[in-house]
Amino acid sequence: MKKIALVTGAYQGLGLATSALLMEQDYHVIMADVQSCSTLANQFRRQGYSASHLKLDLAMSSIFPAIANLIDEQFGQLDVLINNAAILVDMGSHPSQLDEDTYRRVLEINQIGPFLLTKALTPLLKKAKHARIVNVSSQVGQLAQLSDMNSPLKEDICAAYQASKVGINANTVLFAKELESHGIKVNSCCPGWVDSAMNSDDLPDYGDNARPKTPREGADTAVWLATLNEDGPTAGFFTDRTRIDW
Ligand SMILES: NC(=O)c1ccc[n+]([C@@H]2O[C@H](COP(=O)([O-])OP(=O)(O)OC[C@H]3O[C@@H](n4cnc5c(N)ncnc54)[C@H](OP(=O)(O)O)[C@@H]3O)[C@@H](O)[C@H]2O)c1
Repeated sequence: MKKIALVTGAYQGLGLATSALLMEQDYHVIMADVQSCSTLANQFRRQGYSASHLKLDLAMSSIFPAIANLIDEQFGQLDVLINNAAILVDMGSHPSQLDEDTYRRVLEINQIGPFLLTKALTPLLKKAKHARIVNVSSQVGQLAQLSDMNSPLKEDICAAYQASKVGINANTVLFAKELESHGIKVNSCCPGWVDSAMNSDDLPDYGDNARPKTPREGADTAVWLATLNEDGPTAGFFTDRTRIDW
């Protein structure tokens, strides 16, 4: 039987690339997004891959138990959960410039939604042998960098997004501890600077010769963490398959 993976934000960008890479490794991928992935899943199936789709809004946690029931009925377990979806709507906003609604919305979608989705799917992850959870974070939410008053990225502020990525990293270590005895590994990753809809001209200048990664290049570390063997790490933060500070 194929391993079952659920990827949020699968409609485009890193989520779509992650879904494709997992299908290429013979996973069945449940492509979940606030936008319908029906056509995409059909296209993958026509190419011989195994895919299904799920309409999932991370701000609507009330539907998470029903989603867990659906997956339980269809597959009986979940081997991989990739919390990839996020929004970035506050580029350039310092904390005092953020309005409350924006702050709450970003935390809801980027941290609280993934936390509650993980919680709802935990029984199914426990039913799989050696399940893996990957939280897609960002180095802009790296506390080591954020707390460095001399950091070159000091002025690159998106306060709500940064707080949400610190938060999803907290989700990682908290679930990693709780689920270790069940053989479940939970890690965070930063994909690096990736050419996707999330990016805009407002992004930091990464240097004259830098080019953004393609979504497939950016998805590599998430897929590596999703397919770790039993000797692999847990409770870590990785970029380019390399551990980085929190
Ligand atoms: N791109 C980068 O350079 C970069 C760098 C570091 C980290 N990351 C992280 O990588 C992940 C993927 O980023 P990306 O660049 O691929 O983003 P993207 O191209 O904007 O794709 C994100 C997907 O998530 C969906 N989404 C938004 N709100 C949602 C919700 N409430 N529920 C479910 N799905 C929702 C989006 O739908 P809509 O289009 O309708 O909003 C979109 O399809 C994010 O966690 C991001 O923070 C990206």
